[in-house]
Amino acid sequence: MTDTIIIGGSSGMGLALARTLLAEGTDVTIVGRSADRLATARAELERPGRGRVRTIAADLGREEDVAELFARVERVDHVAVTAADATGVYGRTADVATATARALVDTKLIGAWLVAKHAAGRVTGSITYTSGINAYRPNGANTIMAAANGALASLAYGLAVELAPVRVNVISPGWVDTPLWDQLGMDKKSAFAELAARLPARRVGTPDDIAQAFLSVMRNGFITGTVLHVDGGHRVT
Ligand SMILES: NC(=O)c1ccc[n+]([C@@H]2O[C@H](COP(=O)([O-])OP(=O)(O)OC[C@H]3O[C@@H](n4cnc5c(N)ncnc54)[C@H](OP(=O)(O)O)[C@@H]3O)[C@@H](O)[C@H]2O)c1
Repeated sequence: MTDTIIIGGSSGMGLALARTLLAEGTDVTIVGRSADRLATARAELERPGRGRVRTIAADLGREEDVAELFARVERVDHVAVTAADATGVYGRTADVATATARALVDTKLIGAWLVAKHAAGRVTGSITYTSGINAYRPNGANTIMAAANGALASLAYGLAVELAPVRVNVISPGWVDTPLWDQLGMDKKSAFAELAARLPARRVGTPDDIAQAFLSVMRNGFITGTVLHVDGGHRVT
């Protein structure tokens, strides 16, 4: 039996990964900022005969939280990081508050680095981060998110060398139907329909599409220092 820490596991892609791992009997620790959201996720996930669910409230943007999280863990097989808060991040550069941009980088990039810093010596199998299609297909209204996501690839390349034999990879999702979209205040239904018509896959992604991609890189011992694009072909349209 293995176990996995999922930072961002109380919603969306992280929650789908937790659901899949638990159904296989793997023990899972889900991490997020909101204790209420974690409790709701735990109530959904816990079922007799499945793996054990642990919840830890921590903010990826705060080093003391990340340090404490890993201080509580003697050994873990895999760490998956899906956490991000996109509130206020999208828009033209001139319109995005500098504090919002800094907070995003603090969580998405520095937070990812903090995970490596404090998980080193405790994680034995892999660390997998989540970037996103906007790093490769910018649209003029997602520049700081694109920059943070793009930098995650270089972080993973460096860490794959530094932390070896622990494997370090990035999943880069395309558009996926998760609660993250509810923060953006846009007409999700029409945006998804318009994109689906253009994508080679002819649909947007599901959280399970991404969970399956996480499992692939977590379990394949020859994949490290890689960005896996799971975007329905968005990058090549
Ligand atoms: N959905 C898409 O279409 C899409 C496309 C490309 C890339 N992505 C990327 O995919 C990843 C997962 O997105 P999702 O759609 O699954 O998002 P989601 O449904 O909004 O879930 C985000 C999770 O991260 C947690 N979180 C947010 N900020 C955190 C912080 N500072 N510290 C700890 N936990 C934090 C949230 O819980 P709390 O709020 O309680 O902290 C929640 O559990 C993100 O990195 C996102 O940028 C998403």
